Amino acid sequence: MTPVLEARNLVRDYQIPGSLLKRGRTVHAVKGVSFAVDQGKTLAIVGESGCGKSTLARIVTMIDPATSGEMLIDGEKVDIARDGLTSEMRRKVQIVFQNPYGTLNPRKKIGDILSEPLIINTRMKADERRDKAMAMLKKVGLEEKHYGRYPHMFSGGQRQRVAIARALMLNPRLLVLDEPVSALDLSVQAQVLNLLADLQDEFQLTYVFISHDLSVVRYIADDVMVMYYGEAVEYGSREDVFSDPKHSYTKTLFAATPRADVDSIKERLARKAA
Ligand SMILES: Nc1ncnc2c1ncn2[C@@H]1O[C@H](COP(=O)(O)OP(=O)(O)OP(=O)(O)O)[C@@H](O)[C@H]1O
Ligand SMILES: [Mg+2]
Repeated sequence: MTPVLEARNLVRDYQIPGSLLKRGRTVHAVKGVSFAVDQGKTLAIVGESGCGKSTLARIVTMIDPATSGEMLIDGEKVDIARDGLTSEMRRKVQIVFQNPYGTLNPRKKIGDILSEPLIINTRMKADERRDKAMAMLKKVGLEEKHYGRYPHMFSGGQRQRVAIARALMLNPRLLVLDEPVSALDLSVQAQVLNLLADLQDEFQLTYVFISHDLSVVRYIADDVMVMYYGEAVEYGSREDVFSDPKHSYTKTLFAATPRADVDSIKERLARKAA
């Protein structure tokens, strides 16, 4: 099976311009990272602040180019530097951010927010767009009455549902989720994670799920990649990474996780293995 997403040795450098008194310098944000994700699976990317997670997310979503390396989507090479990137390719990957408030236009009604990608990318008629937006609202656990409301009239969890619905409007293959539940209360986190799991099953979606929270990763991931200063220091199945962390950074990460979490992770893995 061809993976939905394959990354080969991705590198991203940022040039920080110099000034009169200071020399310019280069930040090596991502230093040669490789991974692959099959259809219907979730790769979780974990690591501390500044390790390069969002940089990787922007490369995968084709928002930013990689400095070097290769990326393939459904086996097709992506080259955002050239004109070769079709809108069809772009539609395949969508992103959901931690704070949907920043990305949902406060002046637009939810129905218009959901219809917008269809206006830009399809030839659907107004009533078709409306039907599709209504259907998607229901898929993410919202109701028809929400169609005419504005983003500020929703709770944080509901807004994240809207952001997920919008990301799904063009039937993407791959969803990049950059800390999608980190700003939510614990009980709401669980609801949104359940929703994501249901949607993944229903649409055979592939996820790249970025998080710094191991208990969330334990719940959602098939594979786990641990990043540290721009490098993947650990990459494997969730079972392998959680039951036998190899790298000292991963061990520290576990040590920083509340004991109860680690115990419940181990318990769950033991139960799965039995
Ligand atoms: N546009 C940019 N210009 C210069 N440096 C950048 C830029 N974007 C990110 N960086 C740097 O690249 C490194 C990786 O940043 P990135 O945002 O990918 O980290 P992150 O893992 O997402 O962190 P967080 O958990 O805080 O979101 C950091 O050192 C950051 O300062
Ligand atoms: Mg980030």
